[in-house]
Amino acid sequence: MIKKFKFLCNPQVIYGENSISQLPEVIKSLGGKNLLLVADKNFAGTDIFAGIKRQLKEQGIAFSVFDELMGEPSTGTGDDCAAAGIKNGCDIVCGIGGGSTLDTAKAAAVLITNKGSVRDYQGLDKVPGPGLPKIMIPTTAGTGSEVTFTAVFIRKDEKKKGGINSRFLYPETAILDPVLTLTLPPAVTASTGLDALCHAIESFVSKKADFITEPVSLSAIKLIWKSLPSAYEKGDSLEARADMLYGSFLAGVGLANAGVTAVHSISYPLGGVFGVAHGVGNGLLLPYVLEFDMPESASKIARIAEELNIGSGSDIEKAGRFITELKNLLKKFKMPGLKDLGISPDNFASLAEDAMKIAVPIENNPKPVKPADIVKIYKNAY
Ligand SMILES: [Fe+2]
Repeated sequence: MIKKFKFLCNPQVIYGENSISQLPEVIKSLGGKNLLLVADKNFAGTDIFAGIKRQLKEQGIAFSVFDELMGEPSTGTGDDCAAAGIKNGCDIVCGIGGGSTLDTAKAAAVLITNKGSVRDYQGLDKVPGPGLPKIMIPTTAGTGSEVTFTAVFIRKDEKKKGGINSRFLYPETAILDPVLTLTLPPAVTASTGLDALCHAIESFVSKKADFITEPVSLSAIKLIWKSLPSAYEKGDSLEARADMLYGSFLAGVGLANAGVTAVHSISYPLGGVFGVAHGVGNGLLLPYVLEFDMPESASKIARIAEELNIGSGSDIEKAGRFITELKNLLKKFKMPGLKDLGISPDNFASLAEDAMKIAVPIENNPKPVKPADIVKIYKNAY
């Protein structure tokens, strides 16, 4: 039987050392004349950012900066960013930063043309039409937002996170320059890198994984597994940073096509209710969700273990060894448990209920998940 597939990816991805220097020509190639440049306050104060602004001026590209970003964005942040773009008459958007910045920039690009608020478009395929051209430049190797159709925002009043999921969020160009990630502190390297590892592993075990996404996800797992400890210990290693950025990109492609699974669903409420950083929540839950997924995903986890030369014996034994190694990695990165984050077991039942509402990733999970299972996973990650 002839196989069927549907595959999504950005029209253009530019990868390489100092590839940031190509930004002005990319803007021009997309017909942009007046740029909305989105960055968080910290990055907007760096020498790198000053260099980008200088380059834009030299190339005669008008721009305005939106840097009212701190932590994971609320729906209001997305709306404010779009309002800045409308006020300044921008015709193209560039986000440069971590996932929060890129999500804000992507959403602003579609809000500027479609009008309305982030809240109008949270959900699946609710954005009616295309946005402004979007260029995304990650400064962390983690979220994969530069190659996905999702932008996540917190509804502060409801203490809930929700994503805008639309093909109109796909960036026209992603510029991947590992030099921009060289100064990431170890804790951020670990948490964002673990998010990327989650994307890679979850998309690999996902029910939606297919013959195109599986090799992509597996390549991402190998790259991240090898380079994340080096990037954590030796942040100035360009080789480790380059492999991490490449791995995170591949993990993002896997995620965009095969989806994520229960780890992301179960982690979302930790961010929405307790403000736990996305990568931290995912990372600390990952081994316990993989344990829960046994034996359904044993052959896939064993395949990962084989690729990484971890363990021997049956699939279950190899998978078990991989999960043990994963727990060791979390210890090395000093990842907290739920107790360390001030989350009480009294909260587990309501968090589990919220997690069940993050329906799409839960449905992709290789093993069906019930609220009682989630409570058990929270207990194990306590
Ligand atoms: Fe993620």
